[in-house]
Amino acid sequence: MKNINLHPDTVTEVKERVDLVEVVSDYVVMQKKGRDFVGLCPFHDEKSPSFTVSPSKQLYYCFGCGAGGGAIKFLMEIGKQSFRDVIFNLAQRYQIPIKTLALEDQEEIQKKISLRDQLYEIFAIATNFYQHSLRQKKGEEALKYLENERHLSRDNIEKFKLGYAPDGWETLYHYLVEIKHYPIILVEQAGLIKKRSKGEGYIDYFRHRLMIPIQDVNGRIIAFGARSLDGSEPKYLNSPDTDLFSKSKTLFALNFAQKSIVKQNKVIVVEGYFDAITLHTYEINNVVAVLGTALTEHHIKLLSRYTESKEIIINFDADKAGLKATQRAIKEVENLVYSGQLTLKILSIPNGKDADEFLKSGEDTKNKYQELIDKSPLWLDWEIERIINSKNLQNSADYQLVFQTLVKLLNKISNNATRDYYLSYCAEILSNKKSQYSGLNSQDFKNILQSLQFALKQNNYYTSNRKKPYKTFNKSLQNNQVELSEFLLLLIYLHCPDYREVIINQLEEKDLVFSLASHRFLWQQINQISLNLSNDNDYNSLLNTVQENMVNNLDMAKQLAHLFNLSENNQQLLFQPEHYIQAAIACLETVKLEKYKQYCQQKFSESNQEKDLTKMNYYHQEMIAIEAQLNQLKSFRI
Ligand code: UTP
Ligand code: MN
Repeated sequence: MKNINLHPDTVTEVKERVDLVEVVSDYVVMQKKGRDFVGLCPFHDEKSPSFTVSPSKQLYYCFGCGAGGGAIKFLMEIGKQSFRDVIFNLAQRYQIPIKTLALEDQEEIQKKISLRDQLYEIFAIATNFYQHSLRQKKGEEALKYLENERHLSRDNIEKFKLGYAPDGWETLYHYLVEIKHYPIILVEQAGLIKKRSKGEGYIDYFRHRLMIPIQDVNGRIIAFGARSLDGSEPKYLNSPDTDLFSKSKTLFALNFAQKSIVKQNKVIVVEGYFDAITLHTYEINNVVAVLGTALTEHHIKLLSRYTESKEIIINFDADKAGLKATQRAIKEVENLVYSGQLTLKILSIPNGKDADEFLKSGEDTKNKYQELIDKSPLWLDWEIERIINSKNLQNSADYQLVFQTLVKLLNKISNNATRDYYLSYCAEILSNKKSQYSGLNSQDFKNILQSLQFALKQNNYYTSNRKKPYKTFNKSLQNNQVELSEFLLLLIYLHCPDYREVIINQLEEKDLVFSLASHRFLWQQINQISLNLSNDNDYNSLLNTVQENMVNNLDMAKQLAHLFNLSENNQQLLFQPEHYIQAAIACLETVKLEKYKQYCQQKFSESNQEKDLTKMNYYHQEMIAIEAQLNQLKSFRI
């Protein structure tokens, strides 16, 4: 087996096929706790289970010894095997054909790698060439255009590496091929030159255009967008797709936006290169642009890496193709909204301007744009309003049409709480509209709501008698984790004086309390004694008080003894106090939020029955906010 080089396809296939729970079950007896499985850790001795496997994340973690990873790592560690051996065995187990790399294949892959490297180089050199041309006599017109019409500073022209493709037929060809000696075939593959349609030879792909380099997340140039300067069509010409570049997977300005997206936890997607550039120059930096395509799932995946909240604000032109443009743009990602995996908002600029025009249209436009961001409605709200306003509801045929369209929309919402909310929302709007032309009728809302519900039921999606509309948070897992988290905080508090302040601050800041009786008791004692950071006497008197009480309460005694007498495992926990404090606090916070969420859900259901839209709206917003917070906490939790 030693000399076999596995083909990357085999590795990928194995990784996709392997199931961590199945793999771990061979070694550990596990019990289901909520979404996860727990059992005794196979990597260290323990009596109570702290080894957790998450099927959804395909990750394991041991709370006791800190071991953690995925299925492949688990097998490597438990069997002391190499990566290749593990993949090989798994491939056999799952009957995945083992493809190996023959010598030629290895060369092929090597070639592909170096082809990419060569393309990067060519794009970088071409960019230099275009930037240089912009500074020369022939680039004067383009430079004036950037400065006078686009109001860009030299710094920003530099930052975005903007350039000019000269007007000749083969200026770049001449430079790259004849002067720099790049192979023609490579320059052609980069999409920078193309064969003449008649006769021999090659011509430049971009001529007399403003050149906008498109960079990957690492700032490497992978393509160009090119704007015509004389009104010739197309207005924008993009590089063809290559090994490095695919329009539907790339977002312009992501390299400049990354940090700000993380910081603001949301991202604005615009339609045009110059919308993105202008927003960045106004220091609104969490902005990217699509490249003349719709928003794809690829884009969303890419952006999701930077936003925990999964909040995406679309600011597409509302003028040209009308509202349809926005709808088309998000067709592919709609389902993520219906299932609650994506928070999509719509920013529309008044008077059909694009972001670029808006920012340059007067004073204080940056703040005004910020306001538009903050006010941007959720896409579903926006869409419902659009449907309702698209027709004259006084006309009964139109009313029916709107009604049916709304039912269709509501049907797609797979998140129950969200659908219930929008059901009432639609009924409310429809009844308001009706009352505008036929006088107020309090029965209308109820009737409309009922007919909407009925229509949904008929579509077989909606079941009004769902017993458990919301997943209830698993009690035992909750208790187990709370106990461990509290235990950790106390353990660190007692044995790592340096971290006492942090723990106190965190608990206060997050308004958290200990819930286990023994822990609460100990915390009270600690607070009374107010442990002096370096005073052994205090520590001893705390121990005494606790021991006195232990005589009366054996259960408590058992629980607290572990905190004072450090086992080897527990000692290990003290090596990474920051990590464990953060994780424990996140866990306690999560449990607290989950409880509040259940409360809100109950209140939401009640107000739904009472048809109290204001309350419903309030609790719905609360739930969205909680969900976002919970999402953020996920990354900290163990
Ligand atoms: P717009 O036509 O809205 O242009 O195209 P714009 O961004 O406002 O352009 P300016 O302000 O006149 O320079 C929006 C985006 O659609 C793609 C480009 O990515 C452009 O930025 N597009 C547009 C093309 O790919 N080809 C075209 O011919 C036009
Ligand atoms: Mn524009």
